[in-house]
Amino acid sequence: MSKRADFYDAPAHDYLRYWDGRDYENAAEQAAIRRLLHGRRFGHAADVGGGYGRLCVLLQEFADRVTLAEPSSRQLEIAENFLAGHPRIERRQMQADALAFEDGSLDLLTMIRVMHHIPEPSTEFAEIARVLRPGGTAVIEVANLAHARNRVRYLLKGQRIPHLPVDIRSPENRHDEEIAFVNHNPHTVIEQLARCGLRTEGMLSVSNLRSTTLKKVLSHRVHVAAEVACQRVLARTFFGPSAFLLLRKD
Ligand SMILES: C[S@@+](CC[C@H](N)C(=O)[O-])C[C@H]1O[C@@H](n2cnc3c(N)ncnc32)[C@H](O)[C@@H]1O
Repeated sequence: MSKRADFYDAPAHDYLRYWDGRDYENAAEQAAIRRLLHGRRFGHAADVGGGYGRLCVLLQEFADRVTLAEPSSRQLEIAENFLAGHPRIERRQMQADALAFEDGSLDLLTMIRVMHHIPEPSTEFAEIARVLRPGGTAVIEVANLAHARNRVRYLLKGQRIPHLPVDIRSPENRHDEEIAFVNHNPHTVIEQLARCGLRTEGMLSVSNLRSTTLKKVLSHRVHVAAEVACQRVLARTFFGPSAFLLLRKD
């Protein structure tokens, strides 16, 4: 196992409060997961790096058994309250490069908003492939380096979008003690996943309309409806800042 991924123990990572004012992003992500999993039913699902369990309740719609798999003790403590009304959701401490599940024991695995903390994910992807049963499903969110605004930025600089992850931390935070924060080229990620036997069979572009102005001028309902209408149409162009990949373990 590499170094401990316990950065979210720090009080600075008040992840529950992070979601204040982000109802649009939350609804956009939940809609994406529902769309990708529509019509499917699973036995055991695990949400890896699931934080305080924001998405675990939703996973219960699709799975008989849900495990929140999270490295931070603090997030797991918050989960005790957040998931108090859902006693059947298990909470287990682990990180993505050392998943405490038996080989082939999971039917569904989700990992949302975690890739941006994992600059070199090959060990984690191998672990995901190991714990999924053959034919099992994963939904992995990629912090997307190739989103439309970035493409324009790179174009204006006369550069191509890098294949390797780009560190997006401010200069003062670029040191080993600070949590990694990267954006990934989704094409590279899809190849890395394929090398581990995780085949991309669907994707959605998410948070396409993330904008303070749109949050002000549109009602939440209209804003989310417009987002949902864009997610599939814009998927192939990797338009939004977040790409949701639907994967099948071969
Ligand atoms: C931005 S939060 C996302 C939480 C949750 N997935 C969500 O979308 O609400 C990132 C989470 O990833 C966890 N994390 C960071 N590095 C990790 C790793 N190597 N393996 C598993 N989880 C990790 C953190 O502890 C934190 O809970």
